[in-house]
Amino acid sequence: MPGIVSSVAYVRLGAPDLDVQEKFLLDFGLVKVQRDEQRLYMRGISNEPFIHVTERGESGVIAVGYNVNPSVSMESLSQRFDAPVENITEPGGGQRIVLHDPNGMRVELVQGREQVQELPRRDPLRGKDGVSKDRGPSRIEKLVHTAYMTTRLAETIAWYQESFGFLSTDELYIGEPGNTLGRFVRTDCGEDPVYHHVLFIMRGAKDGLHHASFEVERVDEIFTGGDYLHELKYDHVRGIGRHALGSQIFDYWMSPFNVMHEHWSSTEKMNVHSSFNEIKIGSGMVHDSGEAPPERFVKQASPILSAKVATA
Ligand SMILES: [Fe+2]
Repeated sequence: MPGIVSSVAYVRLGAPDLDVQEKFLLDFGLVKVQRDEQRLYMRGISNEPFIHVTERGESGVIAVGYNVNPSVSMESLSQRFDAPVENITEPGGGQRIVLHDPNGMRVELVQGREQVQELPRRDPLRGKDGVSKDRGPSRIEKLVHTAYMTTRLAETIAWYQESFGFLSTDELYIGEPGNTLGRFVRTDCGEDPVYHHVLFIMRGAKDGLHHASFEVERVDEIFTGGDYLHELKYDHVRGIGRHALGSQIFDYWMSPFNVMHEHWSSTEKMNVHSSFNEIKIGSGMVHDSGEAPPERFVKQASPILSAKVATA
């Protein structure tokens, strides 16, 4: 039976200045849905009503939202997790159940959000003007995964896998198996192919969000959108490169409020039958392309604000 969660839906961040945040997100490649005094909602070109929310306040991460498999009843989840079903008053509506993971991260399980019209895809045919490609922001499809730093690695991995049925994809260890650095987990959609991971949980000195990753329409967008962000002097952290695990082309950018956002594209998928691999650091990773990660990439953890903020 497929897992409870089919995909990640959105991140909910905190930032003290919504003007600055909006400018960054537009330049990064998201599309504005709605904004008021307190909240900014952004979407991609996919049919999800929003994939990124910013609430005015402290910088950090407030919550991560996950789409509940349509075949799973919210009432059954309510009983299982002993949490009420709430009606969502944000764009797209629907229902949600709010949980907290072992690190205090707020997890919003959502179902019944009204889908919106997809935005037009880029036409691959060269126009009469002879211009190959406009410069400008990347075109982002949707949120595809997040990564967490945690001081409670085993507990956090177990919580996500037992709660949502996430499957193990790859685990990284140092020295001997069991000395785990982190594990990539993916959604269980049965025979249907899914990406390499919906969540990467890694051991760290503190708890926090390492990054949120956004799939671009096609791999070119990582380069052209990256050029655009460089021109505007945004804070580049790492890339462009390719992770061997998952065949992932990446480029990491720091928001003005110290939350790392990734432009991402991958051609590799797996399903319920794909095997779990334990990989020694320094062996499987040697195939990564691009520069080595800088120290601040390795130590990155945006603070978890979940316990402090009441959301709509
Ligand atoms: Fe990533």
